[in-house]
Amino acid sequence: MTENFRKLYAAAEGLRVYRAPGRVNLIGEHTDYNLGFVCPVALQLATYVAAAPSAGGKLRIHSEHHGETREFDAGAIAGLQPQQHWTDYPIGVAQQLVRAGFAIAPANLLIRSTVPEGSGLSSSAALEVSSALAFLNGRVLAPLELARLCQRAEREFVGMPCGIMDQYISVFGQENTAVEIDCRSLEHRDVRLPGGIAFMAVNTMVKHALAGSAYKERVAECAEAAARMQVASLRDATPEQVESAGLPDPVLRRARHVVTEDGRVERFIQAAARGDLAAMGKLLVESHRSLQHDYEVSCPELDFLVDAALGIPGVIGSRMTGGGFGGCTVTMLRPDAAVRFQTEIGRAYQKQFGVAPQIYECQPSTGAGEWKDVAAIPAAR
Ligand code: GLA
Repeated sequence: MTENFRKLYAAAEGLRVYRAPGRVNLIGEHTDYNLGFVCPVALQLATYVAAAPSAGGKLRIHSEHHGETREFDAGAIAGLQPQQHWTDYPIGVAQQLVRAGFAIAPANLLIRSTVPEGSGLSSSAALEVSSALAFLNGRVLAPLELARLCQRAEREFVGMPCGIMDQYISVFGQENTAVEIDCRSLEHRDVRLPGGIAFMAVNTMVKHALAGSAYKERVAECAEAAARMQVASLRDATPEQVESAGLPDPVLRRARHVVTEDGRVERFIQAAARGDLAAMGKLLVESHRSLQHDYEVSCPELDFLVDAALGIPGVIGSRMTGGGFGGCTVTMLRPDAAVRFQTEIGRAYQKQFGVAPQIYECQPSTGAGEWKDVAAIPAAR
């Protein structure tokens, strides 16, 4: 990466590299913007931003993935408008940093990512958080503020009304454990996963056009349900309340998903604590069915992957993960079934849809920070 940096920008004086991971959410989907619970894992797949100060007042950003460099006046970031372009993520973050009192210094940036874009593994948050660290370049911002600032960039600049999960786990990820986040108090606790299980993400390789608009629609439907029940958010409603509130369809089914999903997160964590793998797997499948039928954010490709996974020996549970309408499923399985799982699911999906799905091992990794081992940055995907 240093070599690429020199090729692009001629010099690499003062180069530092920052890393922020993508994530896979084990359970708790579409609950974060309802201030409920989520249980994600930070992945080894991550975005790396190499940055070095530059002379001449310019901020240059190069993406290896897009093979493109864009140039901005470092002193004029505050006035920029979104361009519906990949630079909206780093520029949105830079603008939030300016608002928070951190001047953006002229610099050259090089972005490399191993988080597949559009895969539902949160390449956006990985880019936001790694860019924020590169802009800060050693200046200190409290971790929770970092996550919130990146979420604001996505909501206000990119225009996606997302919850806090992706940015939060990218900052607070832990090796060897999943993390339960309370999206209202913004506190978290480690969730030790029992031995004898592995998680694999399988990529449908599709992202349907509906993803953005339907997400906004779901956020609005949840707000409507909360308003009709006169609660601040769906976090405050019980399943009984939702069923008896006289909500119209589809608002009733949306609210039902959210409140039952919050319950599933708690039960999943309890099952993990007592090593009850069968109960964990069952909850994953229930979560998927609820997203498929009540929340309606799944798609034929995701449903196929879940159903196919459940027919493979050694699989304990499977569900879609992330926003939906494409992206990945996450499957819990016995480690010794992993090789067979990859072969069989790959073959079945290829036969059905004519595309080979990418498959990623979900090894819980650490959250964002400076990456000191500049020589050992993984090659881009
Ligand atoms: C996207 C959003 C998250 C969350 C998930 C669904 O990844 O960025 O905030 O809402 O969808 O759980």
